[in-house]
Amino acid sequence: MARAPAHQSPSTDKAKTYAEVRAEIAAVLEGEPNPIARMVTVVALLAATFDSYFWTGFYLVDPDRPDELVVGPYQGTLGCLRIAFGRGVCGAAAQSRRTQIVADVHAFPGHIACDSRSNSEIVVPVFQPDGALLGVLDIDSTAFGAFDEVDAVGLEAILTQVFGGRAPHLEASS
Ligand code: SME
Repeated sequence: MARAPAHQSPSTDKAKTYAEVRAEIAAVLEGEPNPIARMVTVVALLAATFDSYFWTGFYLVDPDRPDELVVGPYQGTLGCLRIAFGRGVCGAAAQSRRTQIVADVHAFPGHIACDSRSNSEIVVPVFQPDGALLGVLDIDSTAFGAFDEVDAVGLEAILTQVFGGRAPHLEASS
């Protein structure tokens, strides 16, 4: 990846990359209403853009079991299939409807270790235009502390654009 110009901080650089990928996602999805096509595109473009992403994917609210998430489109190693609301980082994001940033997943109570190589993660809730929770976007990294508020803001903006729901308020935890 090209080095940031001297006047730009890594955070500015990352925010710019999120803005660019958001525009790319909007261009690809123009006129495509299918939610699976929209999710797959978000996952593919995010995973291709950020080297730090080790696992990138959606967990969706199961219409038959509304207090449970079921795995959706993702890129990465095998993910667990179901996560109850309140369990692990994804379950915490679904229950609280707030973005979770976890610098060290091994220190997070109830963290679900689908792949032991994951060391940090960010999970962002995804809303429909009427405010109903569609699911969460889960991104894991092998690095500790890979995610910060720039990622939260960038991802929330992408999800708001793609699914039409409001951006949740940021909640950071370590
Ligand atoms: N990390 C998640 C579980 C899903 S996998 O990492 C793909 C969690 O604890 O919620």
